[in-house]
Amino acid sequence: MNSIPERLSARYKGTFAYFTIRDRLPVTLTRVIDGLSRKISKLKAEHNEDVAEDAIGIISKLSKLRNEMQTNKEIPELNDEFEDLPIWNNYLRNADQLQESERPLKWFTASWLFTECYMYRGIFSAIMARQFLKSYDPYEEQKQQSFRPEDNIYPSVIQLAMNAGRSAEKFSQLLQFSLWGNMFDLSLFGNVDVSTKLTTQLETIKSNILSNDDRQIYSSLEYRWHNVPTNQRRIDFVLDNIGPEFLFDLCLAEYLYRNNMANQIYFHVKSIPWFVSDVMLKDFFWQVETMKVAHNCPVISELGRKVHQYIQDGVWQIVEDSFWTTCHDYNDMRTIAPDLYNSLEKSSLVILKGDLNYRKLIGDRNWPHTYPFKQALRSFRPAPLAALRTIKADLVVGLADGVSDELSKQDSNWMTCGKYGLIQFCDSKLL
Ligand code: F6P
Ligand code: MG
Repeated sequence: MNSIPERLSARYKGTFAYFTIRDRLPVTLTRVIDGLSRKISKLKAEHNEDVAEDAIGIISKLSKLRNEMQTNKEIPELNDEFEDLPIWNNYLRNADQLQESERPLKWFTASWLFTECYMYRGIFSAIMARQFLKSYDPYEEQKQQSFRPEDNIYPSVIQLAMNAGRSAEKFSQLLQFSLWGNMFDLSLFGNVDVSTKLTTQLETIKSNILSNDDRQIYSSLEYRWHNVPTNQRRIDFVLDNIGPEFLFDLCLAEYLYRNNMANQIYFHVKSIPWFVSDVMLKDFFWQVETMKVAHNCPVISELGRKVHQYIQDGVWQIVEDSFWTTCHDYNDMRTIAPDLYNSLEKSSLVILKGDLNYRKLIGDRNWPHTYPFKQALRSFRPAPLAALRTIKADLVVGLADGVSDELSKQDSNWMTCGKYGLIQFCDSKLL
């Protein structure tokens, strides 16, 4: 391929990007505004007028943001004190260096990746500027409602994670739970019930994994198990959503750690509230604590206690980096966040979860659907990489000939319905 394809953008009517900017993002903003409006009288009663004033100030900024989005205004520079500010404002100032199809930087003409990320960063900016509510997480209630250990629907997965020995088949099952857990991100589906579906239907829905490199991932880990000293088997998870997905990620991590396939696990979390349900440091601890006290389900509390202990012992680490919540795709990481890139180079496997990570991996570009995954990564190859993603945005690479055409005949929404998944792997580092 001679020239690099365009990024997805709301400039193309009928695309999911267009639908997102026109319909979905205003709804997300409205929910945040409504959530705060409902709190005002309580804030007054439980705190004071000044705290309530903070909420009113945020609401007014968010209403402005929503109006600018809906009337396709130019996107302004950010003005706050968060550490990533130069990255955002450089992007905005250097817009003339972007491909022509990504300009001007207005809501319906800029790249979708930029505008969607900007909205979440804009919400955070409005909140962090306040005195009393600066650490308010507008999605916290929704996040916490998405995880109910009392439903008792997880034991079989946890038991598998805590008991199964090293085998390609068990590994593949845990990989699939971690993959399908991604179906339930709250930015798209809201608080859906995870149901027992997954546990009973794993075999049936396996054919919905349109490209499945599980065996290659396992072989690569096996190779390391035989040939690399135990103390050099770090595995990284670039986490996505709290709730069931995170629980399944912990199960996969426990399995890898317990079987010595990893001697250290790094969990990369978001440093600001992001795409509604993404895991932040506080959410990580909240879910682990919730697991620990799930008395009706002893295996969940056992796993919770184990995770807690691993964190205390420092063999599992939770790390933040504000690069994850910029608008940049991962091809830019070496330039924009070299320390993060260098750190990932020490990993023997980086597992990237979810739809947004996938979009950033392949630059949110309109590649042919059969284009090789490895090539779509361009220069982002710090370590062997595995992407576990349910398809929720209209881009994909690495499919066999004819797959995409066949699915398009069956269902025009196949790329946005979240029914299909990918487990893709790139083994080689960029040297
Ligand atoms: O494509 C739908 C969508 O909501 C995007 O807006 C966003 O990229 C993504 O899904 C969030 O999903 P995930 O939590 O899997 O990254
Ligand atoms: Mg997410």
